[in-house]
Amino acid sequence: MQAKLDTPWHIGTVEIPSRIVLAPMAGVSVQAFRRQGRRFGAGLVCSEMVSCAGLQHRNERTLGYLRIGADEHPLAVQIFGAEPSVMAEAARQVEDAGADIVDINYGCPVRKVTKTGAGATLLDDPERACAIVAAVAEAVDVPVTVKMRRGLANGSRTALSVGPKLVEAGAAALTLHPRSAKQMYTGTADHSLTAELVELVDVPVIASGDITSRARAHEVLAQTDAAAVMVGRAAQGNPWTVGEIAGLSGGRPSREEIVAELLLFMEDTVREMGEERATGFLKKFYGWYLGRGRFPKPFKQELVQLATVAEVEERLLAAAPGAAELLDGLRAELPEVEHTTLDLPVSIYAGG
Ligand SMILES: Cc1cc2nc3c(=O)[nH]c(=O)nc-3n(C[C@H](O)[C@H](O)[C@H](O)COP(=O)(O)O)c2cc1C
Repeated sequence: MQAKLDTPWHIGTVEIPSRIVLAPMAGVSVQAFRRQGRRFGAGLVCSEMVSCAGLQHRNERTLGYLRIGADEHPLAVQIFGAEPSVMAEAARQVEDAGADIVDINYGCPVRKVTKTGAGATLLDDPERACAIVAAVAEAVDVPVTVKMRRGLANGSRTALSVGPKLVEAGAAALTLHPRSAKQMYTGTADHSLTAELVELVDVPVIASGDITSRARAHEVLAQTDAAAVMVGRAAQGNPWTVGEIAGLSGGRPSREEIVAELLLFMEDTVREMGEERATGFLKKFYGWYLGRGRFPKPFKQELVQLATVAEVEERLLAAAPGAAELLDGLRAELPEVEHTTLDLPVSIYAGG
């Protein structure tokens, strides 16, 4: 039966209030993105992939990925690596940080990751892939999940042979992005493979790839019988698409709404990573928020030239003065949250 997008479901014992999962995206899925996703109806949000080696060496930037806000739950933190014992230790740190789910990355196609034996390469080494899942599941009490591609080569069906083994090893859910690693992001996600995977395993399967609207989400759920859909690129600078998929918002946002949401996102990002890092990090978001015909192109080009976040804020408010009042409204609706304070170096807390 086709799952309804707004009905709850479970991964292990974790209840997830809607069938919409916000994708883990490196360089995108920061706390501000995840908190925004929750406000727009995502039932589960994910951190970007976190290096288990970075956690092992207590790398300051890596540890920063483990900051979790009380309004993010349920939240999965994704880890990547190739050594079962190191992954198990990383999973313990992730659990201690307050994650509800530990997700393991068997999908990353980027050479920097695959050449270390991690990410999508593990699909070609099922024994190691299962050993990692088993070690991680043994190390933590929270559910352990895996996100994978269809395989390495174009047309590969590896996910269908490896998937059931990962479940046997202890995976409580599987996410499939049915493109090959070689494909990167070209072509289309072949969800007929997702449908086959659903038939083969008795844990929830999340369908990832090319979910861009509520209509498409319904189609993919009907085609695959997956438990949920995952939204990635369509949510970049575009929480309204998440809202549309969740059935919470329909129309196109006004310029004022766009600017207010972007300003809130900037504020949250500065709090999370400090002014200096946020200045560079935010630049790609200006294009994502202000593109799509929403603002003239030169406006974005002007913003990325500005030296400080404060200058960008000023310029945005000048372009859409009505956004100030909307922003106040958004701030007032935010839940009061204490951010999980880990035993991290003080500099990580720069910006609040
Ligand atoms: C910029 C970017 C970064 C990504 N980083 C990750 C990641 O850290 N971990 C992961 O499992 N998938 C990652 N992905 C893949 C997405 O989670 C998702 O599976 C893929 O983009 C297909 O979904 P979409 O068509 O909705 O974007 C990334 C994708 C993009 C575009």
